[in-house]
Amino acid sequence: MLTRAYQHSLNGSSRPQGRPLLEVDDVSLRFGGVKALTDVSFTITQGDVHAIIGPNGAGKSSLLNCISGIYHPQEGQIRLHTGGGEDEEGRSVPEGQHLLTQLPPYKVARLGVARSFQNIELFAHLSVLENLMLGRHIHMKHSVLASMLWFGPARRQEIEHRHLVEEVIDLLQLQAHRNQPVGSLAYGIQKRVELGRALCIQPTLLLLDEPMAGMNAEEKEDMARYVLDVHELAGVSVVLIEHDMNVVMDISDRVSVLDFGRLIADGTPDEVKADPAVIEAYLGADRHAAELVERAAEGQEAAHG
Ligand SMILES: Nc1ncnc2c1ncn2[C@@H]1O[C@H](COP(=O)(O)OP(=O)(O)O)[C@@H](O)[C@H]1O
Ligand SMILES: [Mg+2]
Repeated sequence: MLTRAYQHSLNGSSRPQGRPLLEVDDVSLRFGGVKALTDVSFTITQGDVHAIIGPNGAGKSSLLNCISGIYHPQEGQIRLHTGGGEDEEGRSVPEGQHLLTQLPPYKVARLGVARSFQNIELFAHLSVLENLMLGRHIHMKHSVLASMLWFGPARRQEIEHRHLVEEVIDLLQLQAHRNQPVGSLAYGIQKRVELGRALCIQPTLLLLDEPMAGMNAEEKEDMARYVLDVHELAGVSVVLIEHDMNVVMDISDRVSVLDFGRLIADGTPDEVKADPAVIEAYLGADRHAAELVERAAEGQEAAHG
């Protein structure tokens, strides 16, 4: 439900709700002897917040890198579906399919697959507004330099892009920080700017790699709310990587669980929470520790008894 009227749709996908948007099909990725991903298959549906969770080293970032064309898996395919619905002006868009596993990263980005990284990758000395404008460069016919110099057609283009960027600033409530250098902002706000920059691309699919990593509880809650706003108000499909299971359960429509590079569960948050394999993967380490403590206690009792 849209509660605010936006002049521009921040959602770049013309897929109808509920249709498959991205298919990960039997993907395997190795680094020498390390199997980062093994036979991973699942589907991301248009309009979902789709979480990918799993312990550290499970292969979550590798999977995201495969989707964005940074890594090319040795086996399997990743397909992005486009069209089948209407564009911003209400014209119907024919269905299409793109094999992301055969494209370089810049071509995947041009298809509107936007991402944020596990570490902040912003220009620290530039303002929030400037960082967001740079997020628009993918759509600019005239160079960023010409726009900054403020010439004829570049100026008209700049104004149009500026409108869209202002909508992102509004959505993510960055008004107060608009002209501040990003490097001077609190960590949680920098992560929000990064989210905003990805949104400025008008993504067909937004990939977020641990956007809440390193945050305190309050910042995490804030970020979760902004991710929900991006989804509910702007209608963008989101893939959200996180290793804290509790954080994602509230805001996700669907959850895929990776463990040692394998998909061990895929379903609604409730289905996944109740899955014995997931409980094992998450609690296995704790249980092992508990057993050691128990055995040590038994050993002491035996010694004293
Ligand atoms: N560029 C790389 N070169 C070698 N090994 C890698 C590379 N990227 C990831 N890996 C390995 O793949 C596995 C999965 O890592 P990663 O995808 O970063 O996990 P996660 O994001 O779930 O913590 C790990 O064993 C990691 O060391
Ligand atoms: Mg990672």
